[in-house]
Amino acid sequence: MTTQAENDFLTKTGPGTPMGELFRRYWLPAMHADEIPEPDCPPVRVTLLSEKLVAFRDTRGRIGMIEEFCAHRGASLWFGRNEESGLRCPYHGWKYDVTGQCLEVPSEPAESGYCKRIKLKSYPCVELGDVIWVYMGPPEHKPPLPEFEWAKVPPSHRFASRRLQECNYLQAMEGGIDSVHLSFLHRGDLRTDPLHVGSKGSEYARNTDGKFEVVETPGGMIIGVRRSAEPGFLYWRITQWVMPTHTMIPPYGDNALNGHAWVPIDDENCLTWSITHHPTRPLNAKELEVMRSGGGNHAVLVPGTLRPIVNRDNNYMIDRAAQKAGKSYSGVKGIAMQDAAIQESMGPIQDRTRENLVSTDNAVILARRRLRKAALALQQGVEPDAIDPELHRVRSASLVLPDNVRFYEAAAEALKVKEGAEHVSV
Ligand code: FES
Ligand SMILES: [Fe+2]
Repeated sequence: MTTQAENDFLTKTGPGTPMGELFRRYWLPAMHADEIPEPDCPPVRVTLLSEKLVAFRDTRGRIGMIEEFCAHRGASLWFGRNEESGLRCPYHGWKYDVTGQCLEVPSEPAESGYCKRIKLKSYPCVELGDVIWVYMGPPEHKPPLPEFEWAKVPPSHRFASRRLQECNYLQAMEGGIDSVHLSFLHRGDLRTDPLHVGSKGSEYARNTDGKFEVVETPGGMIIGVRRSAEPGFLYWRITQWVMPTHTMIPPYGDNALNGHAWVPIDDENCLTWSITHHPTRPLNAKELEVMRSGGGNHAVLVPGTLRPIVNRDNNYMIDRAAQKAGKSYSGVKGIAMQDAAIQESMGPIQDRTRENLVSTDNAVILARRRLRKAALALQQGVEPDAIDPELHRVRSASLVLPDNVRFYEAAAEALKVKEGAEHVSV
């Protein structure tokens, strides 16, 4: 049973919390690069790990992610003027560069050197895979850059979306590794979503005799689900979880690979990234159209916001008739919004002291244990797992294996990234 203290430990990620310190040791996907598309474009507000920040691209193209509030009297720099290699507060004209260094305090004589003593908090950013990643940890522990395959393929091979999810990151991520819910919550969509149909695998996946095995890996874990296939063979769907919150979902046929990453905004909201990529071919017009209109694990947002159009305020546009007719198990349309609706319904932070876990929750239990262990070890100075980018170079897979082999050994090669080689998928 989870105690209140254990739940708090895992779910709080603000400055100074153990789990917050753990998150601060990884590069985190923060925003799309094209949200600040060009030098001197308008700044964008970003809240991560309960810290309010503002992102901008300066005149020289450098990316800055600095604390949102002016050091003078606290005005939001989101109103700032992004000009002449810095962000200028519109209240009294104090100006900051991408490192948060104050460059100018107009009221003070330049020779006083007053501005040199003023510096806002800032975090280093990199642009990788059309995404801006931020590192919010101690500078001396900045890890090498991430090497997830989706961020390394050509832009034409990838589609990423991010959305606000109005609940704690942990219950959102737990949905991503809880493969059992597919056969219930997403049942209708596996038959109809264009990105999931049309493969031998999607036929096997209808067999309801799924059995789960979870195996720890150096960077996280793999979750294998086996179902019956032809006599003497089993159909395996293998999900990857990479610390702290990356998942890779098993593919169907030649369909692209899908994955998620969750980043805490604050303790009651998170950023859900949905990422689709194909290792060897550009995504086609049909696939892109489906994803842009909320298919696959993507969602359509209220323009100018991160909030999905389908949201709590409209009861997720639940269609009770579709639910009754068996077209949709939950009545909510689209895989992404089914996940969001259910996970947000658990409350801003799920009360884990009241849950009753069963054997199919093994992956959830293991992930919690692993995160907790890493956060505790970090306090003793032990580097967290999956800092090493080599451990990001893994893939999900779906394959048919003889029924007398251990899946993680038999599938070992399929679970590695092989540049220029197709993923293993039936
Ligand atoms: S509050 Fe920003 S310059 Fe005065
Ligand atoms: Fe789901």
